[in-house]
Amino acid sequence: MILLLGASGYVGQAFARELELRGRPFTGLSRRDLDYTRFPALLELLRQTKPEFLINTAGCAGKPNIDACENAKAETLLGNTLLPQLIGAACAATDTPWGHVSSGCIFSGAKILKNDGQRIEPDLTRPELRELLVHFPEKIQGYTEEDEPNFSFRHPPCSFYSGTKALGEDAIAGMGRVYTWRLRLPFDEFDDARNLLSKVQRYPKVYDNANSISHRGDFVKACLDLWETGAPFGTYNLTNPGFITTRQIVEAIQKILRPGRNFEFWIEEEFQQFGVKSPRSNCILDSSKLLAAGVKMRPVAEAIDDALTRWHPENH
Ligand SMILES: NC(=O)c1ccc[n+]([C@@H]2O[C@H](COP(=O)([O-])OP(=O)(O)OC[C@H]3O[C@@H](n4cnc5c(N)ncnc54)[C@H](OP(=O)(O)O)[C@@H]3O)[C@@H](O)[C@H]2O)c1
Repeated sequence: MILLLGASGYVGQAFARELELRGRPFTGLSRRDLDYTRFPALLELLRQTKPEFLINTAGCAGKPNIDACENAKAETLLGNTLLPQLIGAACAATDTPWGHVSSGCIFSGAKILKNDGQRIEPDLTRPELRELLVHFPEKIQGYTEEDEPNFSFRHPPCSFYSGTKALGEDAIAGMGRVYTWRLRLPFDEFDDARNLLSKVQRYPKVYDNANSISHRGDFVKACLDLWETGAPFGTYNLTNPGFITTRQIVEAIQKILRPGRNFEFWIEEEFQQFGVKSPRSNCILDSSKLLAAGVKMRPVAEAIDDALTRWHPENH
């Protein structure tokens, strides 16, 4: 049996669907059923039920978005740092292998290839980079699992949410048999307040930046594939290979959904001043470690086009 924590959430529901499809017996837990954030309760549960694997999708992602975490710091720290640490300790004590859903939002920017090497560029909105992003994507490289997060409490500025997610990774690194699965800006064909494609369609103004992003279904499949194929434990970037700008997402929406409206874009300074409360991570990740482990995710443009082609509006 697989134990799924946070099964009621956006990511948890996707795991539940995929586990059902694979015919894998699992128990989805909500804090309403049993408060798994209490160490003695979780340890006792693991001792009694002896799951073959534990999946942690629980965490505090902020509602309606991560700005909410700035006003709920204690809950955010509990959900994103202390909870994974506590789960890690309970799994280590019972020798239970497990996977933790982390986030790629602990990075900012990308690496730019130059003739004499490469440099870290934390801000991809700089006008001189636009040309590179659109016409020379091969000159942009993502952060690998070896790179230290650069959007964290150790490397400020960062959002409180990102700071706690980076600390959560630190807290469980090397603790027993654990996968740290990094998810980024999830999307799929199901209209939802947490779906990037829904967000882009609902923003009064769109913020253009470049990101590596994760198709929610591809993400959960890849997480389970890593475990089922016996890939080495450790950290994996699970984004659809490549990157995409928000403007390219809008172009795909216009082409496929034909919403019959224009999209307005923020000007950079305006967005930082009026658009958000906390700084946002925009970053490009390298997913070649996942591919080298033999697990495939579709290229990002293909996954976006497919999600839009099969789009299910919320009220239909
Ligand atoms: N959605 C995204 O854009 C995104 C992107 C990257 C990474 N992630 C990560 O993916 C994980 C799941 O995110 P999600 O979007 O599925 O979130 P969600 O829809 O809010 O679900 C998270 C679930 O975690 C449980 N939980 C346990 N402790 C919590 C706490 N202190 N605060 C809030 N919820 C808590 C809740 O389930 P019960 O109370 O029912 O147990 C909740 O339903 C999080 O770790 C998040 O950081 C999300």
